[in-house]
Amino acid sequence: MNSSPNGRWSRSSHDGVRVTTTRPIAVLGGTGPQGFGLALRWAQAGETVIVGSRDAKRAQDAAERIKQRAGANARISGDENAAACAAADLLVLTIPFEGHAALLKQLKPAIRPGSIVIDATVPLAASVGGRATRTLGVWQGSAAQQTAELVPQGVSVVAAFQNVGAEVLNAQGPVDCDVIVCSDDPNASQIVRSLASRIAGVRAIDGGKLENARILEQITALLIGLNIRHKGHSGIRITGLPAVAYDSQ
Ligand SMILES: NC(=O)c1ccc[n+]([C@@H]2O[C@H](COP(=O)([O-])OP(=O)(O)OC[C@H]3O[C@@H](n4cnc5c(N)ncnc54)[C@H](OP(=O)(O)O)[C@@H]3O)[C@@H](O)[C@H]2O)c1
Repeated sequence: MNSSPNGRWSRSSHDGVRVTTTRPIAVLGGTGPQGFGLALRWAQAGETVIVGSRDAKRAQDAAERIKQRAGANARISGDENAAACAAADLLVLTIPFEGHAALLKQLKPAIRPGSIVIDATVPLAASVGGRATRTLGVWQGSAAQQTAELVPQGVSVVAAFQNVGAEVLNAQGPVDCDVIVCSDDPNASQIVRSLASRIAGVRAIDGGKLENARILEQITALLIGLNIRHKGHSGIRITGLPAVAYDSQ
């Protein structure tokens, strides 16, 4: 068992017990394919999920569509992004890079102390009219490191889910991907690895410090290029590590 920063408990998958976090997960931008897919997977796994959007009605519609797929007992709701932030302390950023900094500045007052912000953003050149197979240079090193500069003090930033495509998240069946998790807060990283491993098929791996998010974000551009070249939905698997390195259920 691992203690969460706010004193609540979550179980490590190494206990061999099915894990449910006690904390609601707010997926900001959860009306788009990436956030929708993550919200769907967590709702299917029994987690409590709030879909966030700039428009409360759009969020509620997305939550309703998730409920139709995850079942009537799914704990899923939708709300405007700031209200979703205020109701949760696990926040997932799934918005395009062009809206990233502005949204974080707007949400700053609503982000609760002790929250974990999980950033899946990829700074694709497509954000400024360029190619989706290229990334933009970000002054801080990566979108996730930019997030770390913009969140209130005492909020941990974790980079994850950049290399899992929306198509596989929204499809049926297990997700054939590993999720590399990077953060400067080891406790937050562990919590997010537990959360990632709640997605059927996903193995979560500790990827070290937040600065490694730069590499995760670059890999996405490569995966997009592979998808175009080979007409598929690629993901990554890391081989050769001892079993203890993989969080899975
Ligand atoms: N799609 C993938 O396969 C994939 C894979 C890995 C990583 N990612 C990353 O995940 C993020 C989301 O991807 P996506 O494909 O789901 O993106 P998306 O469809 O372009 O956007 C997701 C949601 O973000 C909100 N949004 C759009 N522009 C915004 C702005 N300027 N400010 C605030 N919110 C805005 C919208 O929700 P509302 O209009 O309802 O507010 C939209 O539904 C991106 O950073 C992407 O690089 C995507």
